[in-house]
Amino acid sequence: MSARKIIIDTDPGQDDAVAILLALASPEEIDVLGITAVAGNVPLNLTSKNARIVCELAGKHDVKVYEGCDRPMGRPLVTAEHVHGKTGLDGPTLPDPVMPVQDQHGVDYIIETLRAHEAGTVTLCPLGPLTNIGTAFTKAPDIIEKVQEIVLMGGAYFEVGNITPAAEFNIYVDPQAADIVFKSGVPIVVMPLDVTHKALVTKPRNDAFRALNTDVGIAVAQMTDFFERFDKEKYGSEGAPLHDPCVTAYLIKPELFSGRHINVEIETQSELTMGMTVADWWGVTGRDANALFVGDVDADGFFSLLKERLARL
Ligand code: RIB
Ligand code: CA
Repeated sequence: MSARKIIIDTDPGQDDAVAILLALASPEEIDVLGITAVAGNVPLNLTSKNARIVCELAGKHDVKVYEGCDRPMGRPLVTAEHVHGKTGLDGPTLPDPVMPVQDQHGVDYIIETLRAHEAGTVTLCPLGPLTNIGTAFTKAPDIIEKVQEIVLMGGAYFEVGNITPAAEFNIYVDPQAADIVFKSGVPIVVMPLDVTHKALVTKPRNDAFRALNTDVGIAVAQMTDFFERFDKEKYGSEGAPLHDPCVTAYLIKPELFSGRHINVEIETQSELTMGMTVADWWGVTGRDANALFVGDVDADGFFSLLKERLARL
């Protein structure tokens, strides 16, 4: 089977970094057409820089990185330095990138790429706020029917919110963009906190990354050493939840994951529940199912895949 063509839309972020590394280490399954940075965990200038740092860490200097939107579609930007650190990639000391950022705006790159490819052959993988995707769909509605699938990290239902009592960060930052995406009619696979909180980098798992004894393995271990503080403190969890790598792992081994096709809608009116993913898990609304909402992962299988692939870089 030929590799799936994808655009990674991202706000690195340590977990974004691991997701990008996993994708770049898996050319048989994933063909990364390009990476678009978006403002999210940290401002755009840093997410763009971090995306390039990660590509160079992977030794993939030819990946094209684009800068997209520097703020949400209709709200002020909320960032998450409290989780990811000032740089957004705190933990390892990595060299500044040499590779340039592309001149073309990330939103125009998404539009142009979808227009240039046959319908149903390009998958969008948003790992941060959905601003670039929502903006592209608004600017060029013709591309919506050309998208093969959207596999995104975002939202929460049983796990409830991580930035407010009701909302997960990616959706909360740009609920308007999320509403556009979830109403677009594009087939969507959602990796919410319900599943990502089951993909925890426990100490033995992190020791296994470090024991790879490669620049990548050591950097990933140092990233999770830093990134885990927030969740350990807040949830008492055993380690950092690898949110975004669930997206790229799904493209490689979907059988590691399970969920339900249900209706998911986004709260965009009430400030109390702004950005909540209202997931009709029990099918009580009769609204059409618009998303595969993933609730479970074979965590051991996920981490052995991750370790095996990171060892390739
Ligand atoms: O809520 C977790 C999500 O928000 C992850 O994608 C993390 O990188 C941040 O973007
Ligand atoms: Ca992210």
